[in-house]
Amino acid sequence: MRTETTPVIRLEDYQPSPFVIERVELDVRLHPTTTRVTATLALKPNPKGRPDAPLVLDGDEVNLKGLSLDGRAIPAAEFEASAQGLTIAQPPRRPFTLTIETEIDPTANTQLMGLYRSSGNYCTQCEAEGFRRITYFLDRPDVMAVYTTRIEADRDEAPVLLGNGNPVEAGNIAGTNRHYAVWHDPHPKPAYLFALVGGRLGKVGKDFTTMSGRKVKLAVYVEPGKEERAAYALDALERSMRWDERVFGREYDLDEFNIVAVSDFNMGAMENKGLNIFNDKYVLASPETATDMDYANIEAIIAHEYFHNWSGNRVTCRDWFQLCLKEGLTVFRDQEFSSDERSRPVHRIAEVKTLRARQFSEDASPLAHPVRPTQYREINNFYTATVYEKGAEIVRMLKTIIGEADFRRGMDLYFDRCDGTAATVEDFLQAFSEVTGRDLSHFSHWYAQAGTPRVTIKGTYDEAAQTYRLDFTQATPATPGQPNKEPMAIPVALGLVAQDGRPLATSSDRVNAQGVFILDKASDSLTFTNVPSHPVPSVFRGFSAPVKTSLDLSNTELLVLLRHDSDAFNRWQAAQTVAMRLLVALSTGAAVTDADITGLSAALEMFIEDDAMRDPAFAALVLTLPSEADIAQEIAADVDPDAIHKARTELKRRIGSANIGQLWEFHQLLADLGPYSPDAASAGRRALRNVALDLIAGADKRLGERLAREQFDTAGNMTDRLASLSVLTTLPGAAREGALTQFSERYRDEPLVLDKWFALQATILEEGTLERVKGLMNHPAFSINNPNRVRSLVGSFAMANQMQFNRADGAGYAFLAEIVLRADELNPQLAARLLTAFSAWRMMEETRRKHAQQTLQAIAEHPNLSRDVSDIVNRSLE
Ligand code: ARG
Ligand code: ZN
Repeated sequence: MRTETTPVIRLEDYQPSPFVIERVELDVRLHPTTTRVTATLALKPNPKGRPDAPLVLDGDEVNLKGLSLDGRAIPAAEFEASAQGLTIAQPPRRPFTLTIETEIDPTANTQLMGLYRSSGNYCTQCEAEGFRRITYFLDRPDVMAVYTTRIEADRDEAPVLLGNGNPVEAGNIAGTNRHYAVWHDPHPKPAYLFALVGGRLGKVGKDFTTMSGRKVKLAVYVEPGKEERAAYALDALERSMRWDERVFGREYDLDEFNIVAVSDFNMGAMENKGLNIFNDKYVLASPETATDMDYANIEAIIAHEYFHNWSGNRVTCRDWFQLCLKEGLTVFRDQEFSSDERSRPVHRIAEVKTLRARQFSEDASPLAHPVRPTQYREINNFYTATVYEKGAEIVRMLKTIIGEADFRRGMDLYFDRCDGTAATVEDFLQAFSEVTGRDLSHFSHWYAQAGTPRVTIKGTYDEAAQTYRLDFTQATPATPGQPNKEPMAIPVALGLVAQDGRPLATSSDRVNAQGVFILDKASDSLTFTNVPSHPVPSVFRGFSAPVKTSLDLSNTELLVLLRHDSDAFNRWQAAQTVAMRLLVALSTGAAVTDADITGLSAALEMFIEDDAMRDPAFAALVLTLPSEADIAQEIAADVDPDAIHKARTELKRRIGSANIGQLWEFHQLLADLGPYSPDAASAGRRALRNVALDLIAGADKRLGERLAREQFDTAGNMTDRLASLSVLTTLPGAAREGALTQFSERYRDEPLVLDKWFALQATILEEGTLERVKGLMNHPAFSINNPNRVRSLVGSFAMANQMQFNRADGAGYAFLAEIVLRADELNPQLAARLLTAFSAWRMMEETRRKHAQQTLQAIAEHPNLSRDVSDIVNRSLE
């Protein structure tokens, strides 16, 4: 919908719906351009709603073809219908049936919301407000109904017909080439969980028996011919189902669970009841086409959508302000699953890297908002890292504070009490207050206050008294609409390490048995007794809270932690902190001595020799320097991306040169011999090998190019092939261009692999990249209609190539603006998402800042912006 002024929706204005819908019968006759939908709704007044209210149904681009009430056509004078809604001013104040016939055009639906076509197949996406694009409806999550769906289609065009719930009936329509299927979902659900699919699809499936003995048919549907690439997703689904039974006691509740992969999708996937629809990028995998990272993402997203069956579907959200209630909780659950299936510390580091890169940057930008926002203009713009990732951190902190056993009891109470309801964040917290007897009102600030708190810590050792005191202060920066912040309740998991590396058994009455101190005032301190020597504090172990930390430790002390801390996360963090200090100094022209650099590279050398092979996945993380965007975030003002790039390249060169012999040895030692397996240990070995290759190339271009070229030619899987190609892209010249061409020819019929090829070229850190990206926009495999293609080429350039997107001449900004405006005509959600690449504009140095501001202003003044884009551009400029 495009309007000049879009209204602000506020949490405080929430009102129960004046009507409820108990049952929905849908009859959908699929046709490429004129699909007919007949919706029969069993309505009744809501005793909790306004008694005299009109019936106002939402609609969006639907054509009304017929309307009757209890079987009689409603006279034209008694209702008002437009593409945006249908109002009956004087509806009956008793139960009644409304029958609505609409016509929609799935082929013309380029927004990918509602019913649309992808590679000829019919599919739907209804979250957040897509159901109103299928029929007029009370399209809000607190209106929950039981659905029966009849789907009819051409047998040739759509031999497979899928709906929510259980299959009831199917058959041919005599004398025609059409057939139908009827699906019934006994669980009341909001409209955003509705889905249907019709198309030509292949499948893999298996039977599953739940813990109480219910037999369930599992299936994954994909493009015919790609069935074997769905095996890993199916396996991940089965493991997710078992895990949710074991860890949360949650069982599946229908006869079938179906997953469908489609190639045109705005997000990752969608948890429609019993019929998850996925971006095929998160389903399809084979060693030849998918990287280790792809396998890990597939496992996580399959689990995420499955876990929504309880955290989202059985218990849904009262309104969209409560989005974190299902998303934050479900991300927490999928992270726990991946941690159990893989390496917990390694996974934790990966989570925190994403959190910092995406959420901390959002929280520091004009788009900052609370995990539970209090207002929005376009809800699709709030499917953010803050709602998802910071939302998950809140759940994790809650568990840290109350402990594992009470956390599980609280979750059980929440699920049992709220089952079948549309709940709020308050309902969630209430369950934990009840099982623990704790007041969680202070903790709930995490949902309400935006911004990343900064915790400053100072340690003081008193040798005579054998005590060690830690002084803490906390402050949360101002964010849009929130100039002043209250102190937060911050769990600090901590311990002390002796300067020689031994753990110190210490005690403080402020630290609980799990080693956690709760900082809930603006400043506080705690004292450890019986401390025999000056210790090194290890704070925020496991990243126990989503905060930034300032700690007065020397590099030498941090490097003690890298070597000796019992907490793997803090070992990694220590190396990162030392590297970050050097990178910031190098980027801003501050003094860096040779000894500073050799201090780090010598510590890494020791780490490489002693530890790297014991846990290669962890070692790969330790040996990866903070990204250019991380460094920019740390500098935070007057950022010069060129200087950052230079600094990082230089430090990488130094570390690589100092360790080149050992790195080369790793590269030979860790070569994959046997057949490919996506398990975490094998992936870890490949990760270390490829980090080694990258460091070698940073130090010695000729050796790097030779090894990368060899690896490229002999690689037995996509992980190794892509990693070597990625190293080659850092080395300008014929070898690079030759490898790029070879790669695109080899994978010409593999859109998901070509996405990697587009992305790799868009992230080349060189002057010529913008021209290259513009050229690739004309590549036959590129399409502005396909979100995966646009994100891989344009999204990667804008979000993962800080240096070239933020060119000093503003050409990167102008390019993105042009694509955003083009995409906005077709797919506003995609356009708005791309536009968030500007969110860091205020921290750039002046020339860039001015270019960015002018570009944003020009976008804002453009006529006919979608609500999605106008919301992002206006908030970015505020
Ligand atoms: N609920 C989906 C998920 O699990 C996200 C769907 C969001 N879609 C959208 N168009 N806003 O994460
Ligand atoms: Zn989700």
